[in-house]
Amino acid sequence: MIKFRCAGNWKLNKSIAETRNFAKILLAKIEISQQSHFTIYPPALVAGELATELAKSDVIWGGQNCYSQPSGAFTGENSAQTLKEMGASSCLIGHSERRAIFGEADSLLADKVKLVQALDLEAVLCIGETLEQRRAGKVKSVIESQLELGLAGVDWSKSFVVAYEPVWAIGTGEVATPQQVEEAHAFIREFLKHISPKGETTPIWYGGSVKPGNAKELSQIKNVNGFLIGGASLKVDDFVGIYQATL
Ligand code: PGA
Repeated sequence: MIKFRCAGNWKLNKSIAETRNFAKILLAKIEISQQSHFTIYPPALVAGELATELAKSDVIWGGQNCYSQPSGAFTGENSAQTLKEMGASSCLIGHSERRAIFGEADSLLADKVKLVQALDLEAVLCIGETLEQRRAGKVKSVIESQLELGLAGVDWSKSFVVAYEPVWAIGTGEVATPQQVEEAHAFIREFLKHISPKGETTPIWYGGSVKPGNAKELSQIKNVNGFLIGGASLKVDDFVGIYQATL
């Protein structure tokens, strides 16, 4: 049984005070036994604050990004090694905003997966097609190519997650239909199983306008093992509401 996870991607939101406040309210609102179902990806500069607040809890936190090398002459980048030292246990890789705005290519993402796994952090590879690609009937070929290239050096003995986020559903309020989600997740599952028996139990998360109101239906779709939540993860009530809808 794959543990259902609700992962909040805060993107470039929340100050230090807001981070502290969010963590305190979250821990007060959820049962201790539920904590490990929650994961938070804060902006790097507030990660220390979040780590302090979550230190005695089972809520997981991770980086939104890291560089493909642990250290060196890479001005402005963040080190996965340092994330680990700070208490992170996961890292997002290749979120569509990283791909589109920062031009991150699949080969770079494959190197990040390798480094993150080598440090025993969970690697969460984000994939998904644009609206243009969907309209052109390229959903499967885009997913296939992003998985093939991004997982080129994946270590199946270590943890990793695939987050399927159709780009047109991110931050738009437009959620993919249950059928679209089911089809994409089934395709990802088959792909993963084809390359390793471990692919059977690799968590596959859905992301793109997940809200308390649509979480129940989405969580019941086969091969949806968690959510990557942007906007709705910024409010504790919505974040917790999404998790509660999955129960
Ligand atoms: P959204 O973002 O929930 O605001 O659509 C999802 C994401 O970008 O991970």
